Amino acid sequence: MKKITACLFDLDGVLVDTAKYHFLAWKELADELGIEFTETHNELLKGVSRMDSLDIILNLGKMDLPQEAKDELAAKKNRVYLEYILKMKEDEILPGVKEFLMDLRNQKIGVALGSASKNAQLILQRLQIENLFDAIIDGTKVSKAKPDPEVFLKGAEALSAKPEECVVFEDAIAGLEAALNAGMRCVGVGSPETLHRANLVISGFDDFHPEDLLQKI
Ligand code: BG6
Ligand code: MG
Repeated sequence: MKKITACLFDLDGVLVDTAKYHFLAWKELADELGIEFTETHNELLKGVSRMDSLDIILNLGKMDLPQEAKDELAAKKNRVYLEYILKMKEDEILPGVKEFLMDLRNQKIGVALGSASKNAQLILQRLQIENLFDAIIDGTKVSKAKPDPEVFLKGAEALSAKPEECVVFEDAIAGLEAALNAGMRCVGVGSPETLHRANLVISGFDDFHPEDLLQKI
């Protein structure tokens, strides 16, 4: 059994169901551009940065635009997304998450956020859980997108934890790959079919506790 000194969490789809707001905001933009965009297409965007997500949508519509136009579209999507985020309530945090984070803290296990989102800090503030993190590494602090391990390696460094003693919680394939590329263990949050490379897959945190970590991975 390997020691665990730190847990690193993706945000969107792991701590809070913001994927639905990302979808609605991208859908609005895609509709304006006349590009068909479904929930199935949205799966391709999970864990992917804002600009890469826009590129995927433009590719779906076989559209190519100059960088300036793309910057404006990405900013427009973010304005719509922020309207949803600003209406978000504390009870939108996923079931069991807060208790799980508090249990880790009580057991002196380091807690870090490892997210691609540039809105992460704002979301944590709205959910009132910012204080449960010892370190926050988000889209404003990394230059390389998942599956590059940068976001998780920076999180481990901030917690002075060795990668092999870290466990990452992720819902997206790119994030799972980033964790494995960092030499960390990964708990997939979601479906075992999608996340089959994870060391363990859970459906959520409402029936999962820090003690299960040591026993199951
Ligand atoms: C990831 C989401 O966490 O953050 C992606 O899974 C999103 O869907 C990415 O595109 C970037 O988020 P933001 O908030 O900076 O646009
Ligand atoms: Mg995610």
